[in-house]
Amino acid sequence: KMNQFLDDLMSKMTLQEKIGQLNLVTAGEAVTGSVVSTGVEQKIAEGKIGGIFSLSTPEKTRRAQEIAMKQSRLKIPIIFGMDVIHGYRTAFPIPLGLAASWDLDLIQQTARIAAKEATADGIHWAFSPMVDISRDARWGRISEGSGEDPYLGSLIAAAMVRGLQSDDLRAKDAMLACVKHFALYGAAESGRDYNTTDMSLHRMYNEYFPPYKAAVDAGVGSVMVSFNDINGVPASANKWLLTDVLRQDWGFKGLVVSDYTGVNELVEHGLGDLQEVSKLSLNAGMDMDMVGEGFLTTLEKSVQEGKVKQERIDAACRAVLEAKYRLGLFDDPYKNTDSKRAKTDIYTPAHLQKAREAATKSFVLLKNENQLLPLKKQGKVAVIGPLANTGSNMPGTWSVSADHANTPSLVEGMRAALGNKVEIITHLGSNLLEDAAYQERATMFGRTIPRDERDEEAILAEAIAATSDVDVIVAALGEASEMSGESSSRVDIGIPAIQQRLLKKLLATGKPVVLVLFAGRPMTIVGESESVPAILNVWFGGSETGKAVADVLFGDVNPSGKLPASFPKHVGQLPLYYAHKNTGRPLAKGQWFEKFRSNYIDVDNEPLYPFGFGLSYTQFDYGQPQLSATSMTADGKIEVQIDVTNSGNWDGEEVVQLYIRDLVGSVTRPVKELKKFEKVLIKKGETKKISFTLQEEDLKFFNQELHWVAEPGEFEVFVGTNSRDTQVAKFTLNQ
Ligand code: IFM
Repeated sequence: KMNQFLDDLMSKMTLQEKIGQLNLVTAGEAVTGSVVSTGVEQKIAEGKIGGIFSLSTPEKTRRAQEIAMKQSRLKIPIIFGMDVIHGYRTAFPIPLGLAASWDLDLIQQTARIAAKEATADGIHWAFSPMVDISRDARWGRISEGSGEDPYLGSLIAAAMVRGLQSDDLRAKDAMLACVKHFALYGAAESGRDYNTTDMSLHRMYNEYFPPYKAAVDAGVGSVMVSFNDINGVPASANKWLLTDVLRQDWGFKGLVVSDYTGVNELVEHGLGDLQEVSKLSLNAGMDMDMVGEGFLTTLEKSVQEGKVKQERIDAACRAVLEAKYRLGLFDDPYKNTDSKRAKTDIYTPAHLQKAREAATKSFVLLKNENQLLPLKKQGKVAVIGPLANTGSNMPGTWSVSADHANTPSLVEGMRAALGNKVEIITHLGSNLLEDAAYQERATMFGRTIPRDERDEEAILAEAIAATSDVDVIVAALGEASEMSGESSSRVDIGIPAIQQRLLKKLLATGKPVVLVLFAGRPMTIVGESESVPAILNVWFGGSETGKAVADVLFGDVNPSGKLPASFPKHVGQLPLYYAHKNTGRPLAKGQWFEKFRSNYIDVDNEPLYPFGFGLSYTQFDYGQPQLSATSMTADGKIEVQIDVTNSGNWDGEEVVQLYIRDLVGSVTRPVKELKKFEKVLIKKGETKKISFTLQEEDLKFFNQELHWVAEPGEFEVFVGTNSRDTQVAKFTLNQ
């Protein structure tokens, strides 16, 4: 039915109308790039626009749709897009935080809610999930993805697609998802945004491609192409990537869209003038051109000059029309413009409750000396620091539709959650950053943090005086939300020095200090990890951050988050990831420096906190892994069982993690690879037997010829509470 319908429609379309469908413009409501489209209404009427993004509300999208439906010749509906990354008006934790929950069901639910809200506000298409693997915490956009691991990242990618698209794209609350940024955007050299990526095919296929592929396998409807070049060819003009890999090998049948002016930027990459690069991009497999209008303004000429084939324009146009068809827009172009839903389905108490739950599950307890946490719900608490009283920083980066101005601050949220059981006093303590110009770059888009231009010592003295009669100090420190995200790379990923000075003074009071760390990336916090008794890493927790922090600090929720990316000791260790190779000169276990071994002379190789790490208020003890057999055949399986005992005083959730190591291979293999995990609630005093099944498929990798194979031989299997603290057993894969 769809084919017949689209054949009929396309037979009526002129070349210029087809090219018009390839044009995606921005209404500029949310600033997500440096150019804003012009003459949008007139272009809709002239059939020169296929989609609009960053336009919301039923009223505004209806008005734009009416122009298409009433004034354009063929009445082809517009598709409306938006960056719906971690929630819509209700903001959930940043994706790196959501990943720290290791809770796929929860992540899917957050995506479902985001889709419900966004569709109620006129939107059809989410530029999400962002699945770029990143192992370099300098890169600001590490905040927007699921961290360093291809396995965890793949499962989350699929969960997000399911949550956004649901089972039926025609449903009123379903959105077309868009996996991004294809490909390897997270491997930007030096962690500098938009920078070059140069990578072996072997690494690409084994470590960086899996989450994109997982999204494709989960049925994602669209793919956004990355800004970077890959082994010398920018992704936006990379035919091997967009056609051979994506469409031919992976069988992707949906819509391929550029990133913001990504086609035009090929000129800066040095590939030619706008006509040339538009041709290159379309011919490579790009269907839709975001904002730059290179397609709109040059493709007709390229067709006439024989540089672009009519069939390629037809295929790209068809991809756009198919997306609209699959969303049901030809049947009901106004399906998301019901203003009643906008009133009832957005920012609801149920959504906020889910945001609060998701936030508590995203937090990672990094240290808890002498069980300082949880705190008692009594007495007087000082919440001190530049991040204590700024609601606009709570939703986190890439939360373009959140209501930043009205999001409760940490202190407001804590007060709301705790009522009058705990008295909370607060003070700025220090500026976010010493340098005012840096603070301006770090607090864009209205994410404000008050600045006090008085002498630093005077501010500190005032803050310390305010804590004189409190029982506990909560230090709200770290990054502002716009210190991570797009174009927010940093070379120093520690807590800014001015805040460290505040922290030292707070510690010097002798009162118990809890560091509530706001972070859009793994940070270097070696000093703090030594001097502060309790550290709760809260990323950016979304709309209900303040209440969620109170829930965890005061013990209503036992923290269960686990790091989805390694926390380095020093920025010089980057890129840093647990699944590294052994090298020919590895260090002996537990060793640091040895001459002529692979190490540094000034810092050891280990992360400060490894991938998968996170404490609980309770204690989990692991038994030895029991294997059902010591060998398996290609069609067989091995059952791995382990007893996990909650020997502490709290019920708690634990993420039981299973890693493997392929000891001998035709190519070098990682020292550990996550292959399974289970998040499980274990009551205090209870022992749970956790079982995992390993099959040949779990042992496969892409070999030198890029064949997906498992190689017979010995494997180690590790089970534990994080990627470092594991128990090991061995088995053999037989011929
Ligand atoms: O979706 C985003 C992308 O992640 C970065 N550039 C802008 C796009 C649209 O806002």
